[in-house]
Amino acid sequence: MKVAVILALTLAVVSAKTPAIKLNTGYEMPQIGIGTWQVKGAQATQEVKDALEVGYRHVDTAEIYANEKEVGAGIHAQINAGILKREDLFITTKVWPDGSNRQKALQTIHNSLKSLNVTYLDLVLVHFPHDNYAETYKGLEDAFNQKLVRSIGISNFDRAQIDHVLKTAKVKPAVNQINIHPKNNHDDTVNYSKQLGIAVTGYSPLGTGGLVKDPTLVAIGKKHNKSAAQVALRWQIERHLITIPKNVPLIRLNTGKEMPALGLGTWQTEGPEVTNAVREALEAGYRHIDTAWFYHNEGAVGKGIQQAIDKGVVTRDDIFITTKVWPRNMNRQTAFGIIKNSLKELNTSYVDLVLMHWPLRRARATADVYRGLEDAYNKQMVRSLGVSNFKPAEIETLMQTAKVKPSNNQIRIHPGFNQDNTVDYCKKHNISITGYSPLGTGTILDEPALVKIGKKYGKSPAQVAIRWQIQRGLIVIPKSTHKKRIVENFNVFDFQLTDKDMLEINSIKQNRIPDFWG
Ligand code: A2P
Repeated sequence: MKVAVILALTLAVVSAKTPAIKLNTGYEMPQIGIGTWQVKGAQATQEVKDALEVGYRHVDTAEIYANEKEVGAGIHAQINAGILKREDLFITTKVWPDGSNRQKALQTIHNSLKSLNVTYLDLVLVHFPHDNYAETYKGLEDAFNQKLVRSIGISNFDRAQIDHVLKTAKVKPAVNQINIHPKNNHDDTVNYSKQLGIAVTGYSPLGTGGLVKDPTLVAIGKKHNKSAAQVALRWQIERHLITIPKNVPLIRLNTGKEMPALGLGTWQTEGPEVTNAVREALEAGYRHIDTAWFYHNEGAVGKGIQQAIDKGVVTRDDIFITTKVWPRNMNRQTAFGIIKNSLKELNTSYVDLVLMHWPLRRARATADVYRGLEDAYNKQMVRSLGVSNFKPAEIETLMQTAKVKPSNNQIRIHPGFNQDNTVDYCKKHNISITGYSPLGTGTILDEPALVKIGKKYGKSPAQVAIRWQIQRGLIVIPKSTHKKRIVENFNVFDFQLTDKDMLEINSIKQNRIPDFWG
């Protein structure tokens, strides 16, 4: 019931009937929707049921949220209860374009229809301007022409990316869904989209929750007897935008599990310092924490997670936890024992990802330790497996004996240390990449290109370095033990580096670190 009350308060920023925006296809889209990112299983069904009960008529989901089936169950429960009819509801979903093509996009939409158990979708978006997104968009057009979808659109597209899609588009996008909140007007993209007749949906309307205590919003709220959150939402409504909650990109692993593209690194920090950092990160919106046996901090990291759970900030299932097995002097049995110990230290019944921390010199020894990781995977102690500091040849050798394919390779990456070779190899083999020490352990923050590009967007060099990795399609785990920096490093979803910026960062002189990492 508590959720229903919160939902009703949010909806109370508009009048009894939610206002709608008329899309360029002629269909109307309710201006407030319920977002379902990071809400899974029974919780997703319940949230959708509650939202529909209090009056929401717009539900936003995505292929990559892996909750379409549960969202569909919530919708149908309320249709069956006579609360609404299918045609009263606006359903949005999104297609992730990674390695995608036209046929794959169309197939994804067929899957979404099946999962949501509906005969048509109101809106389907290309989730991110990744890979060959114009080709993915053509798959959406096919679905539109086959009347599987009433309107199609894009998400996280800037001016140049909109232009790129329009060059080959036959059906104009109806919506662009982007990150907007009162500290990030996104005027340029909003105005450009509107000028082209493309409606705009703003996600993260509360700035990852960071704006709920904003003094300006609180003061305005007091005047109208409303909360700061309600003011932030009303502001979007009055700008004629559509609004839904926050969204951090997720990377889908080859196990089907999803990994938040940004996490907190905890190397070289122990005890209460790391406990506080982990709790503060979770409070700031992080949902991915990286640790390792070798860091001697799993117990302290576990405490930070527990503190956030006890405060009601997160549940265990909301978080992605990675740890690593140090392989030296280990074998299959001892590696398995180390993972068991990590679970105990972290106070959890499973971890999301376990990595073999380094390759051993002898391939047979590496294979044997990896078998210990596979044993833990088969016993459901671990949801995905991976490696760390592996070069392509070492992965190649491991693959000859591995029964569970690695899902992730965590390597050192920062501007000035691009690791193109390993990144390309892993991408080709559907192994995700996590870049550790993205700030070069703090050594690259005076890099002129990062400083210059950061100035353009009002961002720090650290934020530019982190964003660069995210736009490369990588996962990134900056480490900090200072609240201000923890928050700063997470605040990278409200700007977009251009192709030219990316190229400039790619071209920073390479090899600023010792050779054994290369
Ligand atoms: P601290 O933990 O004191 O905040 P990396 O992630 O590349 O390993 O870099 C971590 C180093 O960079 C740490 O020394 C950390 O210090 C520092 N650091 C982390 N975030 C920032 C930031 N936003 N600005 C400046 N330094 C940072």
